[in-house]
Parts: sequence; C-alpha cells; structure tokens
Amino acid sequence: MSQATPSRSTWSNRWAFILVTIGSAVGLGNIWRFSYLAGASEGSVGVFVVVYLVCVALIGLPLLMAEILIGRRGRGNPVAAMLNTAAESGNSSWWALLGWVGIFGALMILSFYSVVSGWMVDYFWRSLVEGMNVSTPEEAKAAYDATMANPWRQGFWHTVFMILTVGVVARGVVAGIETANKIMLPLLFLILIFLAFWGTVAGDMPAALNFMFNLKTEAIKPGVVIDGMGHAFFSLSLGMGAIMAYGSYLDKKTNIGHTCLWVAGVGAFIGLLCGAAIFSLTFRYGLEPAAGPGLILQTLPLAFTHMPGGRLVAILFFLFVIFAAWTSSISLLEPFVSWLTERYGIRRARAAWGTALPVWLLGLAVCLSFNEWSEFKIFGRTIFYLLDHFATRFMMPLSGLAIAIYVGWRLGKMIVVDEIRLKQRTFNLWFDVLRFVVPVGITLIFFYELVLRNWLK
Ligand code: PHE
Repeated sequence: MSQATPSRSTWSNRWAFILVTIGSAVGLGNIWRFSYLAGASEGSVGVFVVVYLVCVALIGLPLLMAEILIGRRGRGNPVAAMLNTAAESGNSSWWALLGWVGIFGALMILSFYSVVSGWMVDYFWRSLVEGMNVSTPEEAKAAYDATMANPWRQGFWHTVFMILTVGVVARGVVAGIETANKIMLPLLFLILIFLAFWGTVAGDMPAALNFMFNLKTEAIKPGVVIDGMGHAFFSLSLGMGAIMAYGSYLDKKTNIGHTCLWVAGVGAFIGLLCGAAIFSLTFRYGLEPAAGPGLILQTLPLAFTHMPGGRLVAILFFLFVIFAAWTSSISLLEPFVSWLTERYGIRRARAAWGTALPVWLLGLAVCLSFNEWSEFKIFGRTIFYLLDHFATRFMMPLSGLAIAIYVGWRLGKMIVVDEIRLKQRTFNLWFDVLRFVVPVGITLIFFYELVLRNWLK
C-alpha cells in the first residue's frame, strides 16, 4: 500500500535541510510562547526553564532524530511514511494512525498559530506606519486590549498571514519552502543578534537572567512541569508530522544525528536569547512579566517607545517575529498538503488553498474566542486555550511517546542502524535513551501532572 510518488523532491543539500528544520523549530514558540509561559509560571520560572532544557536534550533531540528517520525511510507524507515503514518492518498498518494525528494536529496548531502571527503582522504594520506611541503601562495594555477586543482586526491579519503561508507552500518544496527559508532565516539571525545586543544595552539583563534561572521556588505551580515538556515539543516542532514531512525530502547521505544537534542547539539557544532580551526590557521598564499571551505585545511596545531608536527596533523586532512564524507555519501546512498531493494526485497549489480554508475558518473562531465568544468554554477553556492545551499538553507528548516506542521497539534495529549512521557508542547511547528514557520520561511527567498533583492537593 505504498502511497509515495516516485518522483519526490529533495532538499538541495544538507544545509538546506538544517535551515528549513531550524526554520520550522524557531517560531512563535521560542519568542511569544516561551516568554508568556515563563512569565505565567512566576514563582516556578526556573523549574519551567530547566524542565524545558532537560526535555529538549533528553526527549526532544532523540525524538527529532527518530521522526526524521521515519520520514526519510518512509519516503512519503507522514501517513504514507508510517504505512511504508510499518510494511517494511512487518508492523501493523494501524501505526499509520500516528501519521494521521500528525497531519491533523499540525492543522489544529496552525489555526491559532496564524491568529497569533496575525497580531504580530498587525503590530509590525502599526510600528511601520504610525509607531506604537504608548508611553505608560496602562496605555500599552489598553492598546493590546483593544486589539484583542476587535475580531475584525484580528481576522483581517490572520487572513493576511494565512495567505503568506499558503503562498509559499503552494510553490513547492524547493521553489517555495526552501527558498523562503533561505531568504528569511539569515535575515532573522542578523536581526536577532542586533536585538539581543540592544536588549542587553537598553534593558536589565541581570534581572532577566535571575528571573529565568531562579530555582528557589515557593511552590511549583500546577501545569509548570507538563508545560515545560510540552514547550520542548512545541519549540522543536515534534510529533506533528512537520519534521517527518521535512525528513521525507532528505537525501540518503545526510547524517541525521549531526543535523539534529544543530537544530536542537540553535532552537534552544534562540529561545533563551529571546527570553532574556524580552525579560530584560520587561524589568527595565518596570513591567509585569506575568501578563499572559499578550506579554510581548504589551511590554515591548512600551520599551520601544522609551528607548533610543525605538521605532526602528520595533519594526525590526516584529519583522523578526514574522519571519520566525512564517517559516514555522509553512511546516504546519506542508504535512497535510503533501498527503493530499500524494494520495489523490491533487495539484499542490490547489491542495494548499483547499487545506487552508477550514484552518482559516477555525482561526476565525479563535479570533472570536478573545472577545465575542470569550464566555464560551469547553472544559473550562476558551477555544484558543483548548486548542493550545490539547495540542501541546496531550497530542504532542503522546505522539512523541508513540514515536519513541515505534522506532525504539518496533522498527527493528537493522532499519534504524541503516538510517542513523553514528559511531557505535553514540548510536547505542541515543538508542537506549530513545527506548527507555524518552518513554519513561514522558509517562512520568504525565503521571506527575495528571494524577499525582491531584492527589497531593
Ligand atoms: N516549532 C514551532 C514554533 O516554535 C511551532 C511548530 C510546532 C511548528 C509543531 C511545526 C510543528 O513556533
């Protein structure tokens, strides 16, 4: 039941693959989500950051390799890659469920991802044409609240961002995705270096670092540990078919292990650097770090208004965020689009626009969940939080667990060794971590958050 087409695209070279994977990994997760989750876990920030870093190293990195392995071996979209590798290794085709979870999960994330990215485009536009001009924390909050209260405004920018995303994916793997990353990522790095420098000069860096790495916690807030793990998954794009889809366009020669070290290392580094720059400005201007999802949209505009050259810094900052978000959102759309084109032979452009439509609609519901529908709650959560929590607290870790079991225990060592060419010692280390540490780690964190915490209460 092979679903892959014989003539699949491949990335131009190993660096192109590293670039697109970093592009997928580095996104709103590292900038917006990291800072708001860290801020929200005030009192346990150090725990959140440490859990995140440990999870990146011990769970994220091994899983990143496993996911690329499946994609490359399976030579197809996530569903096909799972079917193909399951057939090759004599496993049940039920494993393809993992591919399904991935391609649908990615669309679910894209729906709110695009809305939040839309806020960033909105703020970019405002800095460009009129400047943010907010001089007190109250004004900054009022400007943010007004944005949130306006579904039309959010819907408009969400639409713009969806069009940007589809525009790239529709052009194809190399001409679209690879080219977009090759243009945006170098610019992104340049801006980031500048911003980190500015954040250090204009902000209060010692306070930021003290805030982020302070392990003296009064009480570990509920959700902090699972959020740390969920965030490691989110920021490495794990378990959602994105990495698998990208891996499927990877040539046979490239060393998966080395590549992944780059991706995980750069991803975590950028996350910490952004966090440090953002908190450094937050403290310098006497703001609240626990402002929730709006953190960077409230604190930064204020800092930009007061700092020298702030307007230019604001424009650059939001451009930076847009690039980061854009290179990630294309990787969220790609898995489903590649499935449609390969399974049904639908033309790529048509598949991309067709897939975007329901995602866009769901995104409109997300826009409304911040205002008109803010009282509409499922399991006590608005649509936005429901999608975010469901995807990052449940789907990503559980799908990661299944991937670890699949590659560690079911695929067979022959295939795994053939794909992961590392020195024997390194290979064994990785394989053991994947087989034991990853599944046990994920299960323990789940058990701790979902069961133990409730008992201990
Ligand atoms: N890693 C991206 C970010 O940090 C989000 C993402 C998640 C992208 C899952 C693809 C798949 O913003």
